[in-house]
Amino acid sequence: VDAIPARPVTEHDAAISGRPRRLVYNNSLPILSYRGFWLLEDWARGTAAMADERRGGFVARPGDVVLATLPKAGTTWLKALAFATMARGLFPPASPDHPLRRLNSHDCVPTVESGLFACGREGVLDKLPSPRLLNTHLPLSLLPSSITDNDDCKIVYVCRDEKDRAVSTWHFIKRIKRIGSDVPFSEVYKSICEGTSACGPVWDHILGYWNASKKEPSRVLFLTYEQMLQDPMGTIRQLAEFLGQPISDAEEETGVVAEIVELCRLHSCFSDQNVKNPGLESMKKQKINREGSQGVGITFSNDAYFRKGVAGDWLNHMTLEMGQHLDSILNEKFDGSGFTI
Ligand code: A3P
Repeated sequence: VDAIPARPVTEHDAAISGRPRRLVYNNSLPILSYRGFWLLEDWARGTAAMADERRGGFVARPGDVVLATLPKAGTTWLKALAFATMARGLFPPASPDHPLRRLNSHDCVPTVESGLFACGREGVLDKLPSPRLLNTHLPLSLLPSSITDNDDCKIVYVCRDEKDRAVSTWHFIKRIKRIGSDVPFSEVYKSICEGTSACGPVWDHILGYWNASKKEPSRVLFLTYEQMLQDPMGTIRQLAEFLGQPISDAEEETGVVAEIVELCRLHSCFSDQNVKNPGLESMKKQKINREGSQGVGITFSNDAYFRKGVAGDWLNHMTLEMGQHLDSILNEKFDGSGFTI
């Protein structure tokens, strides 16, 4: 990445100026209202750059696979699962030198608007071999038409129980020095309920992909984090099938699906606890996830991406009434869509 010259990041300031703007999380991070959604200012700048097709914006390639998520919905895990599944021919998941044993999954699958365009690093996209595996936190309506109108691009969306996502977000942002560990959980919760959290309103984010998955199931796959937790092997088979690389009978016999699950398990990704097969664990990989970092501007240490990885942690952070209130807001928004929480 460092070898590719960066574009000046201020180039798209005009496209984001004059929009409603406020400071969130202990008044430390600017967030903008951008075409119906609230985006962190840097991400909005990246989104504007991505959309600028005349000046080096995003151009999809046939075969591109876009993993779409709200932050803290399970992006890190989905990146690992999709990468391991798609690349299983080249990199057998049980191999001791699999890239995911020495790299964080964010290093294998870039987040396009924030990790590339927001930093002027989109030149990386040209260097990636096809089929490219990419990630976005953007809602469907803000994706470039070269993705959304392209029959040769596929999208995989992961949705997570908003109550658990709120808790995960809170723990994550407390790790950001600029924000500080004293940011109250109530601020994160309130912004989700009001539709002003990063990438919110969350119901519009979720519904955009849900509706697209109903309309074009061969192009948009809608998964949930809870389903991934409950049945990781089934999720991998579903992913492989959707991506046009179904797991063959011969592969089933070799146990490749279980190997991918093991490779991507939270404890395999991060700690040496509960590892069934410690012989396959690369110390380097643990090191990258403990000591490496992501991001430009605001940086996150890699270990911030791995916490409990469970469903239902919200019960430890909010009252039943708070949980019911958030559920009732979402139920009302999802009414008639066929999507239930
Ligand atoms: P918790 O904070 O609830 O533990 P994202 O990757 O979108 O930033 O989401 C982070 C959440 O996914 C965190 O949830 C993290 O623990 C969980 N996670 C990360 N890697 C995981 C894995 N391999 N398996 C299951 N959950 C994982």
